Amino acid sequence: MQEKILVFGANGQIGTELVEQLRTIHGGSAIIACDIKDPDFAHRHDGPFEHGDVLQEASLQALFKKHKPTQVFHLAALLSAVGEQRPQVAWELNMNGLLHVLELAVEFKTAKVFWPSSIAVFGPGSPKHNTPQFCVMDPSTVYGISKLAGERWCEYYYLKHGLDVRSIRYPGLMGWKAEPGGGTTDYAVHIFREAIKRREYECFLRADTQIPMMYMPDAIRASLELMEAPAEKLTTRSAYNIAGLSFSPAMLAREIRKHIPQLTVTYLKNDHRQAIANSWPNSIDDSVAREDWNWQARFNLEDICEDMLDNLRKIALR
Ligand code: SER
Repeated sequence: MQEKILVFGANGQIGTELVEQLRTIHGGSAIIACDIKDPDFAHRHDGPFEHGDVLQEASLQALFKKHKPTQVFHLAALLSAVGEQRPQVAWELNMNGLLHVLELAVEFKTAKVFWPSSIAVFGPGSPKHNTPQFCVMDPSTVYGISKLAGERWCEYYYLKHGLDVRSIRYPGLMGWKAEPGGGTTDYAVHIFREAIKRREYECFLRADTQIPMMYMPDAIRASLELMEAPAEKLTTRSAYNIAGLSFSPAMLAREIRKHIPQLTVTYLKNDHRQAIANSWPNSIDDSVAREDWNWQARFNLEDICEDMLDNLRKIALR
């Protein structure tokens, strides 16, 4: 079957890489990139692009009608740090955007929907280490609350409407192709750019703050593998825990110093993002994803640092 895939939030950190990968697999014209802002020059000519605001249900409906997607990846969201600054906006975008997409996917009989959840669904009451798939979930950020509510809505649409919706609880994501925007784990990307440019970085999280993280190629592969998995193998329709690695800013700085020994890192003491990070797990148990669809991360910290620095240096030389 020829797929037709709509990607909302196509210009974001995940969207930029996902659209590229989907176009390699299905061909450029099969993937309709949608975002509220124009794509970067680098991505402008890769394939079809539509302006689309997931909060405008009528214009969203027009896009479903025009393209009749077989799959939708709905990535548009406000992340944790910026969400705390604009709680109502975050709730409105993260919640109503998802509800519009779920409703239209049912109306237009979209075969499969992907929506990213996050480790932010966990909170201070969740087990800190090897946080399991099912446990206490008491998120303390608006972002986390919207992701947890979103998970429940995804499962609800699966149960009530038979919508084949699939989701992953992403850890913090690191990549060199697109900047993250407004997250608590963004430091792990910024540090590389600053290490190359200035040999110094002021980190907004404390040195020993350990958070689950993942390299973007693993994250993209996870989404695609989950979307390809046979429906009957999937035992959870809320969102799957997936684990990559777990490290602190100090551990990351130590690894980068193997390549850039002059790097100095200072740590802010009172940044509002620290409380967010403190409420999240240190590490994740992903045994259900491993069991259901053979999930396994590939990149360790050493590989990630080498690849990030290699690619960011090439970009800096351009
Ligand atoms: N990386 C995201 C954030 O920091 C978590 O999903 O907000």
